[in-house]
Amino acid sequence: MSTEPTNTEPANTEPMSTEPTSTEQTAGVHPPQKILITGGAGFIGSTVASACLDAGYVPVILDNLSTGRREFTEGRTFYEGDIADAALLDRIFREHPDLAATVHCAALTVVPESVANPIRYYRENVTKTLELIEGLVRNGCHRLVFSSSASVYAAGATGEVDENAPIGPASPYARTKAVMEWILEDVARAGELQAIALRYFNPIGADPEFRTGNPNPQPTHVLGKMITAYEQDQPFHITGVDWPTRDGSAIRDYIHVWDLAEAHLAALRNFDAIVARHLVPGTQRSEVPYEVINLGTGDGTTVRELADAFQDAVPGELEVVTAPRRPGDVIGAYTGTAKARQLLGWTPKFTVSEAIRDALTWARVRAGLPPATSLAPPPPPRPPEATVDVLMPYYGDVGMMQEAVRSVLNQRDPHWRLTVVDDGAEPGVPEWFAGLVAEHGPEKIHYQRNETNLGITENFQKCLDLVTQPLVTMIGSDDRMLPNYIGTVRALMNTFPQASLTQPGVEIIDENGEVVDPWIDKVKRRVYAPRVHGAAVLGGESLAVSLLRGNWMYFPAICWRADIITEVGFNPRLRVVQDLALTLEWIRAGAQIVVSDTTCFQYRRHAVSVSSERAHTGTRFAEERAFFLDEAAKMDRLGWRKAARTARLHLSSRLHAATLLPGAARRGSSSGVRTLARYAFGPARRSGGSAR
Ligand SMILES: NC(=O)c1ccc[n+]([C@@H]2O[C@H](COP(=O)([O-])OP(=O)(O)OC[C@H]3O[C@@H](n4cnc5c(N)ncnc54)[C@H](O)[C@@H]3O)[C@@H](O)[C@H]2O)c1
Repeated sequence: MSTEPTNTEPANTEPMSTEPTSTEQTAGVHPPQKILITGGAGFIGSTVASACLDAGYVPVILDNLSTGRREFTEGRTFYEGDIADAALLDRIFREHPDLAATVHCAALTVVPESVANPIRYYRENVTKTLELIEGLVRNGCHRLVFSSSASVYAAGATGEVDENAPIGPASPYARTKAVMEWILEDVARAGELQAIALRYFNPIGADPEFRTGNPNPQPTHVLGKMITAYEQDQPFHITGVDWPTRDGSAIRDYIHVWDLAEAHLAALRNFDAIVARHLVPGTQRSEVPYEVINLGTGDGTTVRELADAFQDAVPGELEVVTAPRRPGDVIGAYTGTAKARQLLGWTPKFTVSEAIRDALTWARVRAGLPPATSLAPPPPPRPPEATVDVLMPYYGDVGMMQEAVRSVLNQRDPHWRLTVVDDGAEPGVPEWFAGLVAEHGPEKIHYQRNETNLGITENFQKCLDLVTQPLVTMIGSDDRMLPNYIGTVRALMNTFPQASLTQPGVEIIDENGEVVDPWIDKVKRRVYAPRVHGAAVLGGESLAVSLLRGNWMYFPAICWRADIITEVGFNPRLRVVQDLALTLEWIRAGAQIVVSDTTCFQYRRHAVSVSSERAHTGTRFAEERAFFLDEAAKMDRLGWRKAARTARLHLSSRLHAATLLPGAARRGSSSGVRTLARYAFGPARRSGGSAR
């Protein structure tokens, strides 16, 4: 595939404006203003029209019914005709001079058709849109929301893409969208029009009231194939299970079409503020009143997850078989929602299961069959979505703690609850949390301050006593979640129900919040950590051996099943290696863990931490020695000889001690040097005991 020039809209490089709140009246188009919706008889346009009606706008539809459905326009103001029909457009504006904006959905959309007949696609989607733009300018309607597509991104863009990802449309259809974006940017720069291009990912579902839906009975995407396989009692093939994704299958970003429609409403409401972000210095004029915003779910859905969600939504079985990749298969991509959240104040609300359910119900409504009743026998009550209890035992720097808290508030997946147990006495902190609780509600945020200082381990344990949700994570009060953390760990725990905990990918930040790669983490990654592409389940003696060689896990990034972490609890005797102690305890009890390479957490490594301070004097290693020897004995009792041997060697910990020797020497700590040297190079035995 050819790589086309990257989209260089300055829009994406500038700082974002403040997120609009729902109560604030933003500069834009507000009900009951009129909106021209081209393609309003099609799948997305008709849903946008319904959302407009529900919100109090007055939609005016223009559609030539080439693929749209007349019945989707019933009871709505509808003009049948072409977007390039200048006389018709002028008439519409004569009859509705108060049209405040246009949502331009009309287009031909079938990729293979565009390959077979590119001239028609360029004419319908590009030439005719130019005609439309001229007509809008002529009639003084300067606000345009454009239906663009994620297909404008280069196929090499995998995993999470944002609006700055390279542009490289792979089909004539996708190129018509990219070309139109460039044209709109140029027209906006010339001051003739203002535009927001919304790049949709994979819309599915239907209007939840089933007024309209996809007119195409056989959608060509994966969901369409799934429906066909299910209806024909054929197996559904997942082709390719070795992609570097959460579960090895390819990934897409299925978004409920109603969520998409609501994003259009948000774009209209905030229109003027969004396009005015790039002001010419010293003026009120926007340099380029044009913006691009991705619309997706934030975490995407793998094909396997889609099949699971499908299975949840239908009676009977969808047989799923796996097969190798086919030529031309791509890993796929999904989009973050940061820009949409900030500019539109919008996040999607529907789950992919709900979108599938609505797509299936719509198919029956369309076929004239009664909706939900016969689609499935009353579905079993859905287990509540597993929420992650985010525990934050807090002591120390207020600014970093607030950053950590904000990183939780910024999660794209809303299924979290934050509990902060404050073991300090910093002024202003309880008041700050009172404000957050007032804003987000006590069911989302719980804060309490200890009357007396409990110390690290006891405060950790106290947090565990407050667990109420099925999943638990214990973020450090100086760490940060990336916005995909909760979504990633929930998906992993959902996909691998046999796993007791999950360790996702982590990046390291320093005191200033800069991403760094210290040697200790390089070693963890390159020498000790298992090599995982996507996700892998590990357990048993081999996992114990691997962790005893070098603890490559990052405790604050781990997400646990609640029953497991609360049952094992913390060992109050251990200050430095308690996380490893906890993990090994549970591995001995048969737990499996799922490791993923999806980076979703920032672990802060300070130049001097409690543990490294203690290390310099060598006291840390006294604890470590006792711990490893204890572990060796426990492994022996289980018959895990290799693990026992590894525990006795505790090589990585000794190497660490050896690297600290010069520091201790520089500080003139002769007892520190002696302890470290004995630990690093001496025989593995208990003080006063015999070597084993
Ligand atoms: N459905 C998707 O997966 C998807 C993904 C990304 C972007 N989009 C974009 O969203 C928009 C809507 O797509 P959709 O899925 O609703 O398609 P659709 O085919 O259901 O709707 C398109 C509508 O435009 C009308 N139309 C086409 N050419 C016209 C013309 N020259 N004049 C007047 N009306 C015309 C059609 O009759 C139809 O009602 C399109 O611009 C498409 O490129 C769709």
